[in-house]
Amino acid sequence: EAASPAGSGGGRRRRVLLFPVPFQGHLTPMLQLAGALHARGGGGLGVTVFHAAFNAPDPARHPAGFRFVPVGEGVPSADLVPSGSDADFAGALLRIDDRLREPFRECLRQALAEEEEEEEEGGGAAAACLVVDSNLRGIQLVAEELGVPTLVLRTGGAACLVAYMAFPVLCDKGLLPPASQDKAQLDMPLDELTPLRLRDVVFSAPAMHGNMTRCLQRLVDAARNSSGVILNTFQDLEDSDIQKITSGLGVLVYTIGPLHKISSGTESSLLAQDQTCLKWLDKQEADSVLYVSLGSLASMDEKELLETAWGLANSQRPFLWVIRHNMVKSLSHEVSLPDGFEEATHGRGMVVPWAPQQEVLAHHAIGGFWTHNGWNSTLESICEGVPMICRPQFADQTINMRYVQEVWKIGFELEGELERGKIEMAITKLLCTEEGRQMRQRARDLRDKAAKCIEEEGSSQSAIELLLKRIMSF
Ligand code: UDX
Repeated sequence: EAASPAGSGGGRRRRVLLFPVPFQGHLTPMLQLAGALHARGGGGLGVTVFHAAFNAPDPARHPAGFRFVPVGEGVPSADLVPSGSDADFAGALLRIDDRLREPFRECLRQALAEEEEEEEEGGGAAAACLVVDSNLRGIQLVAEELGVPTLVLRTGGAACLVAYMAFPVLCDKGLLPPASQDKAQLDMPLDELTPLRLRDVVFSAPAMHGNMTRCLQRLVDAARNSSGVILNTFQDLEDSDIQKITSGLGVLVYTIGPLHKISSGTESSLLAQDQTCLKWLDKQEADSVLYVSLGSLASMDEKELLETAWGLANSQRPFLWVIRHNMVKSLSHEVSLPDGFEEATHGRGMVVPWAPQQEVLAHHAIGGFWTHNGWNSTLESICEGVPMICRPQFADQTINMRYVQEVWKIGFELEGELERGKIEMAITKLLCTEEGRQMRQRARDLRDKAAKCIEEEGSSQSAIELLLKRIMSF
């Protein structure tokens, strides 16, 4: 018997529903997953993306067969973004889940009814399941209520999910929130989470501990109560943590990353990417340029901006620096670089508001990445064999930094207050020393392993096939 395309499910057309969190670092992997499933579905798998009206994806930049359904159009976007001077990301995730829950019920009901009608007319595709971001437990409950099975996409790394699973135990032991800011206490190693220390799992400021606790409780509940957890990482990178997740959650785990290398053609950047920097990179020597970017949410204050500028200038190394429009905290005017910076770095540095990061990291001129260690940035850097200077700020970023530094040994943390002399030394270490060269070599070894995982028969390719079969079986 001739094999039918995986998505055709023996003739019956199916549709996968997806609901991402409306932040760049979450939206991108969810849309990449949609692209990967659609491409392998042999034309038999429809895709519907439910999304917040805020940070909405652009349908024109996705395959024609994708449907996009805005949810909660009346909900003010100010309710959904992190607030407070120390931005409360956990609070924002809780509000997104709460405020979009009721509107989603109506949208899902309507979508299911329409699909039934279309099926009766012979042209439809029945909803197989909802793939929901792990932060949206409330959305998952609505799907369950309406009889739609759910899979959970965890957009961060496996090590991070293991730490999130251990979070309630650490709270019960009285370790979190930490009783003091005492250095010795914060540096205490957590034996069950090696190489993490207590300070690496303090995911939020003390005032936001309650929101963080609720947020992580929902996240782990969503994973446990799903029909399977999808991880954007790869087996050779995080094997032992993936095993801990499988045994700890008791659900099927699909390790299918790095998604950005599997799914091509899905364009999900919310900001316009400055392509001219690629031409500029063409003119630079191999492994010579430091790429500097804090992702879509992390920020710095004016003093840190100043120290960074002079650290980059004084290093005498070429650099490509992303200064996002809202990257500098509590600034009422446009970001301005210090007097003399332009002259000091003329021809050697380029500043852009947003870069085509994956292409930048893949460029042969890039020798290192100064990153906040968001999971996507970390994984993108690994997949191009680029070593890192790590400057994590919140959530999973400290965990990712620890793995980069202690486990994979492909970078190091730039600790403490930002100061130009320290920055200059870090850049020199990464780009100009034997130690830095060895980190680059190890990063390249990991890059090759990532490439193997996504080859035919590779672990991630096989996991995607299994995932697709599972979706078609609902
Ligand atoms: C957030 C959290 O901060 C992060 O810790 C979590 O793991 C995911 O959600 P974000 O801070 O935006 O994400 O960081 P990251 O996960 O690194 O994602 C940023 C994305 O934006 C990457 O895919 C990167 O390629 C892209 N990007 C970044 C650009 O396209 N251009 C840029 O100039 C900078």
